[in-house]
Amino acid sequence: MSVRNRIEVMHGVNLDQLGRRPVAVYGDLTYDRLERAIDEFARDLGLRARFFQTNAESEFVEHLHRLEGMADGIVMNPGAWTHYAWAIRDALEIAALPTMEVHLSDVGNREEWRRLSVVRDLCVGSVTGEGVAGYRSALERLKQELDI
Ligand code: DQA
Repeated sequence: MSVRNRIEVMHGVNLDQLGRRPVAVYGDLTYDRLERAIDEFARDLGLRARFFQTNAESEFVEHLHRLEGMADGIVMNPGAWTHYAWAIRDALEIAALPTMEVHLSDVGNREEWRRLSVVRDLCVGSVTGEGVAGYRSALERLKQELDI
């Protein structure tokens, strides 16, 4: 059997605008730099990262529908959809892949409405408030989960 090391890194709404978002919360990181950092973390760990970002919820859902046979695990930062997009939760359940939820900011210590995550209990774990480094922790955890 081939190595199960294909990780789909999925970013949702407004994450492409990193660099224009409040610096106090997200720093001056751009989406481009974020992808490059994650790609490096993945290579270091012997994982293969593939990236997807959209601002359209339907595309995010349909991408999850298409993952069967294409990925072994998911790292997901759905942005604000995290807090209310039940259709994404259902699609993640359909995808049925080990998933890590990541947030750059500490969503548990911001506005009340950011405390709910509709995907969290479907995930093998979540990392919040560690900035870019949080993606490394998430990939490490997924690697363990995939037993590679
Ligand atoms: C975020 C946190 C969300 O609450 C917010 O809507 C985002 C980014 C994060 O990475 O910290 O867009 O997911």
